Amino acid sequence: MALVAALSHSAAAARKVIFDTDPGSDDAMALMLALNSPELDVRAITVVPGNVTAQQGLENALRMASLANRCDIPVAAGAQHPLFQKLITAEFWHGKNGLANVELPPSKCKVDGRYGPDLIIQMVHAAPHEFTLVPVGPLTNIALAVLKDPSIVPLVKEVIIMGGSITGGNVNAAAEANIYNDPEAAQIVFQAGWPLTMVGLDVGDKTLLSRKHLAQLGQTHGPMNDFMVQVATYLVDLSEKFGSAGTPMYDPLAVGVAIDATLVKAPAMHVDVETRGEFTRGETVANRHGYDERNVLHGDRYVIEGADKVEPNAKVCTDVEAERFLQLFISRIRGK
Ligand code: RIB
Ligand code: CA
Repeated sequence: MALVAALSHSAAAARKVIFDTDPGSDDAMALMLALNSPELDVRAITVVPGNVTAQQGLENALRMASLANRCDIPVAAGAQHPLFQKLITAEFWHGKNGLANVELPPSKCKVDGRYGPDLIIQMVHAAPHEFTLVPVGPLTNIALAVLKDPSIVPLVKEVIIMGGSITGGNVNAAAEANIYNDPEAAQIVFQAGWPLTMVGLDVGDKTLLSRKHLAQLGQTHGPMNDFMVQVATYLVDLSEKFGSAGTPMYDPLAVGVAIDATLVKAPAMHVDVETRGEFTRGETVANRHGYDERNVLHGDRYVIEGADKVEPNAKVCTDVEAERFLQLFISRIRGK
């Protein structure tokens, strides 16, 4: 009876997840982690253009669902481009096909005919207060869902994004790639009013999968295990070319936070997304001290006459137990 109780408890407690992705090599590692973690119940995969085009991303997502024998999970296409700017694809970092040039077998899964944002809306209404959205690409699909049906905002349990940074960018001095690829969408998502956790470069850059971890992963085999070794080898090789000791586990760490929020420290802050700065478009601008000075005009100058509280709208990850996460990742992938 104890085993039945344990199994029923774990199944009942599993967090329902909609995974929105621009797959993407680290997206692939994030998805494999999510699909091999009993704490999570991935109910849909929606695809957004970013690292690769929408079409390539859909093909990659279908092939990965098939590799994991999860054709039961709906895989749906979403936006075909950012809201207001041209798409910027990142084959430079992710390989020509977006999956570290690894050629997975053709998918056994069929694409779901629903539009990604509509699928998100439908699933959230069908299970109010139960879904966690885990977007690990540009936030175009999430923004489109909110724009079409703002009533989903109070019905979503949590949004855990990979994106942003409060310590400088990775595409330039100021912006992180997912935000940079659709700043207007990101501002909509940050201001929507739902519980949002930002898993940004601040912690991703501290969570480096190295050759040591690669060796651990390589000690076991299985279709997903072997795929992860191929992808991680490509990424570690590339990171070493740019002088880094390992590859930052950006997207997998967002899934890690959905599995176990104690992996990170995440103080509440108000975050805005810059959409007009000449040097800062796409920057996530966080108010760490929680107030804005109030300037009052007196003649030819302003005088500071107070400080007004700024309500936080996000939990911003500022520190991480990196090695504990990396060992969690390895333990979930080994032998699968
Ligand atoms: O800045 C890192 C993010 O951009 C990750 O999600 C990576 O997959 C790319 O989309
Ligand atoms: Ca991504």
